[in-house]
Amino acid sequence: IMSQATARAHSNIALIKYWGKRAGPRNLPAVGSISVTLGALYTDTTVVFDDTLSADCAQLDDKPADTARLTPFLDLVRARAGIDTRASIVSANNFPTGAGLASSASGFAALSLAATRAAGLELDARELSILSRQGSGSAARSIFGGFAEMHRGTRDDGSDAFAEPMLEPEDWPVEIVVAITDTATKSVNSSIGMSHLDERSDYYQAWVDHSESDLAAMRDAIAARDFETVGALTEMSCLKLHGLMMSTRPGLIYWNPATVAAMHAVRSLREAGTPVYFTIDAGPQVKALCAPGHGEAVARELADVPGVLETRRTALGPAARVIA
Ligand code: DP6
Repeated sequence: IMSQATARAHSNIALIKYWGKRAGPRNLPAVGSISVTLGALYTDTTVVFDDTLSADCAQLDDKPADTARLTPFLDLVRARAGIDTRASIVSANNFPTGAGLASSASGFAALSLAATRAAGLELDARELSILSRQGSGSAARSIFGGFAEMHRGTRDDGSDAFAEPMLEPEDWPVEIVVAITDTATKSVNSSIGMSHLDERSDYYQAWVDHSESDLAAMRDAIAARDFETVGALTEMSCLKLHGLMMSTRPGLIYWNPATVAAMHAVRSLREAGTPVYFTIDAGPQVKALCAPGHGEAVARELADVPGVLETRRTALGPAARVIA
């Protein structure tokens, strides 16, 4: 017996960052986060449950992929569906994998949707968000389009650690320009980078203590469509995250010279009157948050920054969806 489904989920970029986990299983976040989903960056994933398979197998961007992180995730879906059929996963990103462009977010969101549908389950968006979180914390947000907020939750079972939609893309069509400065896979992935932070960084408690007020300020600014305040909070959360990363033993430095050059370029553009702010995840790429209508000019400027290999301009994207 075979059953299959294909889903597409888009990458997302946090404006208020998630970093650090609270005690408990499977990516219970220590802090909430707020993100935007990106239209131009996505993952397509097909899951086939196939009785003839003796083990799960996976392919990512046409290459065989390790199932160490995938089988425990599929086990959650199998347990829920009451099956124990093994699966074949075929996944493709339309952007460089593992280079700080949030491939685990779009990847696990697409996998959650494809795997549950292939297993005959119809989860609602909140349940899908909870499931995606168990693959990768940031994936919980990629279930939704536009602006989304991930709740930290307080329960041990994670049933209140899910994302919710805030605004649809058309409600506030801000643009993102991604400046790619390196396409190699990053050296320290997020899960490892944020493990045991309480013992590894003296700044961690301060990060956690201030997260609620950062989230509250961002909620208000988004509701008011106050681009300058959203942008200022976005840069602040990014720089605070990277300060925390640098303060971790051993210190994490995700930036290269072109990353820093692009940050300065964004600030120069802003001083010259363009409404644009930067943010950076656990990798060297710079993402510029642009007010509606300013993406093209920002992309042109960032393409000329020394060390920037490529720019991608994107509008906000839609929710994860089944495509076959
Ligand atoms: C810097 O979601 O990749 O991008 O939950 O361990 O899979 P795991 O981590 P992940 O971390 C994302 C960290 C970040 C900030 C963010 O997206 O909020």
